[in-house]
Amino acid sequence: MKSDFLKVSTEKGVGRIRLHRPEVLNALNRQMVADLVEQLESWDRDEHIGAILLLGGPKAFAAGADIEEMAQATAVEMLRLDPFVDWDRIRKISKPIVAAVQGYALGGGCELALACDLILASESAQFGQPEINIGVMPGAGGTQRLTRAVGKARAMEMVLTGKPITAQEAFQAHLINRVVPEEALEEEATKLAEELASKPPVALRLAKQAVSKAAEVGLTEGLDYEQKLFYFLFSTEDQKEGMQAFSEKRRPTFRGK
Ligand code: HXC
Repeated sequence: MKSDFLKVSTEKGVGRIRLHRPEVLNALNRQMVADLVEQLESWDRDEHIGAILLLGGPKAFAAGADIEEMAQATAVEMLRLDPFVDWDRIRKISKPIVAAVQGYALGGGCELALACDLILASESAQFGQPEINIGVMPGAGGTQRLTRAVGKARAMEMVLTGKPITAQEAFQAHLINRVVPEEALEEEATKLAEELASKPPVALRLAKQAVSKAAEVGLTEGLDYEQKLFYFLFSTEDQKEGMQAFSEKRRPTFRGK
């Protein structure tokens, strides 16, 4: 796929997207989000891709939605454009997405990282929801996913004051998986994505769905859902292969079947 705002490549079963609008710190305009979603969906259907890696630039993962693009919009225009339709499609991606965050992850940039499944950040990363300072509030999950991740107290402070937190604070608040040195971020994130891409694809996909479900439903419904997916995996060749390889003390070969 060709995009003016993304750099896209694939290697070792990993689809790699780099947000690329460096002149505005990767501010997310609507076309960029549309391109991103189209690429994610295309890889979700591609059997050669097992996991996705999303990167930004050294100064910014993304400094939010493009303020210039929204500044003059009326409420009716926003309703008609309904930009969150595209954002909602990210939620439907069934393959794991790893975000590698350096520098600013603000507003929509923070929400985009939160829409991913695993977040690695370098020491320079800053996570924040500064929308309050420009007269709005988060709209792509910043009041919901953030609150589920870090709890009400922390989320309320971030959303109401607009002040960002550091990578280390984000780690302590359970917002991200790991903080790594600046120069190691890309390599670590790539390794993690490649590791995910080597897992049995159907189990990986359903396991992601089950964990994501935990944020949405009560315990009984969640457990029922988990059990059904667990039973279903016994219809796959990969389950037979995985367990047989264990017994035979060899490495399994998974085929996604
Ligand atoms: C448009 C942006 C931008 C943004 C930065 N730029 N963020 N343009 N939308 N979100 C542009 C600047 O205008 C500037 O362009 C260039 O990028 C470099 O930014 P500077 O401000 O000069 O850099 P610096 O002084 O280092 O400050 C970095 C910063 C600041 C702290 C990240 O840029 C900033 O506060 N940006 C806005 C952050 C924000 O409010 N995000 C939330 C947006 S609302 P020029 O042309 O001057 O060089 C949102 C809602 C989400 O995300 C809803 C989902 C759709």
